Parts: sequence; C-alpha cells; structure tokens
Amino acid sequence: MRHGALLKEIAMRHDDYVRTYAPRQEARATRTGSVMPAAYRPAADGSAPAAATGLDAYRVPQEPYYRALADEVDLYEAAYSVRLPVMLKGPTGCGKTRFVEYMAWKLGKPLITVACNEDMTASDLVGRYLLDANGTRWQDGPLATAARLGAICYLDEVVEARQDTTVAIHPLTDARRILPLEKKGEIIQAHPDFQLVISYNPGYQSLMKDLKQSTKQRFAALDFHYPEHEVEAEIVAHESGVGLDVAKNLVHIAERSRNLKGHGLDEGLSTRMLIYAGSLIAQGVAPLGACQMALVRPITDDPDMRDALDAAVTTYF
Ligand SMILES: Nc1ncnc2c1ncn2[C@@H]1O[C@H](COP(=O)(O)OP(=O)(O)OP(=O)(O)O)[C@@H](O)[C@H]1O
Ligand SMILES: [Mg+2]
Repeated sequence: MRHGALLKEIAMRHDDYVRTYAPRQEARATRTGSVMPAAYRPAADGSAPAAATGLDAYRVPQEPYYRALADEVDLYEAAYSVRLPVMLKGPTGCGKTRFVEYMAWKLGKPLITVACNEDMTASDLVGRYLLDANGTRWQDGPLATAARLGAICYLDEVVEARQDTTVAIHPLTDARRILPLEKKGEIIQAHPDFQLVISYNPGYQSLMKDLKQSTKQRFAALDFHYPEHEVEAEIVAHESGVGLDVAKNLVHIAERSRNLKGHGLDEGLSTRMLIYAGSLIAQGVAPLGACQMALVRPITDDPDMRDALDAAVTTYF
C-alpha cells in the first residue's frame, strides 16, 4: 500500500472508532416514533435549545422511558447542580445506562458514553495526534470533547480501563475541573455544563482490579438494585411488549435465580435478560423456549444450575 493511502486508512480506522461513541438511539427512536431534530427540541425544563455545536449528535433526542425506583432523579439533579462527579453502582442490566440517558434528557445536556475496556488507554479518552495526508492533526478524545464543549461524559465500566486512564480523570473530578492534554501542551478548563459519571459493578472486582480509593473518593455514588416485583414487571412489560401477567412470571423466575447468587450462580438474572425473554415471547416464541434461550442458557453452563433454573421456568410457564 502506498504511504499516503496507508495514512488515510489509519485516519479512517480511527474515525470509525470514534463514531462508536455516538449514542445508540436509533433502535428506540424507530420504535417510539419520529425524532424531532435535537437542535429544535426544547429541554425538558422548557428552556430554549442550545445553539448548534459539535455536541448536537450526542443529544438524547426524546424522553427515554425510565421508571424511577426511589429518589435517584432528585439526588442526581442536586449533584448535577453543583457538578459533582457521580458513580452509579449496581449489577449488570439493572438500569444504570438508561438512568443516565434519562437524566441527560431531563437536564437537556448532551451525553457522551464511552464503554471502557482493558485495552483502553488514556489517549483513547483524552485524544491523540493523527497522521493524515497533510501531516498531523490533533483529535480530541471523548473526554476532552465533553470537557471542552460541555457534555455529560459517562464512562461505562470504568474499572475495566487501565489505571493510567482512571488517573487521567482525576484533575477533572476535583475543584480544578481541568483536563491537561500533555501531548498537545494544552490545559482544558472544563465547560460549566461538563459532568463526569462512571458506572461500577460492585462484586465483579478482584483485588487487582478495583478502583483506587483516590478515584472512588472523588465521586458521589448512587446505588442501583433490581426493582421490586411490581415495578420490575411494569418495566419488563413496557420494554418488551408482553402482558403484565407474563412479565410478572418472568420476574418470579428472576427472583428465584437471584436467590441462587453465591450458591452456584455469580449473578442472578437481570432486568435486561427478562426484557430479552419477554421480547421473544412477544414475537410469538413459546415461553418455555424463550426462557431457555434468553435466561437459562446465557447465564450458566453448570448442569445443576440449569436444572434449577429450568425448574423455576416450568413452575411459572
Ligand atoms: N428503572 C428502569 N426504567 C426503565 N427501564 C429500565 C429500568 N431499569 C432497567 N430498565 C431496562 O433494562 C435494560 C437494561 O438496563 P441498562 O442497560 O440501563 O443496564 P445497566 O445497569 O447499564 O447494565 P450494565 O452494567 O450491564 O451496563 C434497559 O435497556 C431498560 O430497558
Ligand atoms: Mg450500562
């Protein structure tokens, strides 16, 4: 490959990578109707839409369905009003991502979500120089974009990222609210609207892989749990399209599985899995088959555990 073509390919690959940070609203948008262009949409509080900026692509275009479980909405709003960094703690599939999408919509702020993984480096978050046909150009990472332009930056599963990545967020999460771009020789003073939110699944961490106290102690935290029976059934029915009776049965099965946590299961069935099962049933799949495909098989390979879960399924379907 020619040198110029190779550089172009590298730049394109990077652009693909950056695009994965864009919010995934399309699926819901098609289900819930047309989407008003974000630039014309007033914020939930009725104030005028923000002037067009590079952040418009990250605006949550319409109200996400979120069923509040306690006073988390008020607490988050209070935290945002003083721009406290917030940590959302709770097991997988219990509503953390949905909550932050809802809050971004309610506050009328753009949301940049980054799914963290172990290969992620500080440069992936902060930014890097890219080579292109004209030489080098600086590309802000998602954290720098959010800090510069004023978005809520949501780092999903931050504990997965390497330690240098978590340390990069420190100056943004104390009184300084700055992000040094060392390679570029620039210090970004965070926009007044900027806020950092991270998620964290307690219990999944090993001693080697946990957030440092110096990171944890920079955040206010909200605990998330699976909702109580009636509320969870309401969510499952709403999201999957099954009737409330079927949704309640799915929740019963999940509750049984959650009692097996620590007795052969690492984690019980999440609300997300119940929605998957409900969606299959709503598509016409027989409940038994749907539960096996969406609940039993994904969560365990242990024959005894599968038997125990199958027994729970046949009790309710
Ligand atoms: N309180 C809630 N209100 C509305 N929907 C909810 C609620 N809780 C869970 N859900 C539904 O459950 C699904 C899974 O929740 P979500 O993706 O927010 O989980 P999560 O906590 O971010 O999980 P993970 O830690 O794996 O990222 C959502 O897509 C949504 O449909
Ligand atoms: Mg999530």
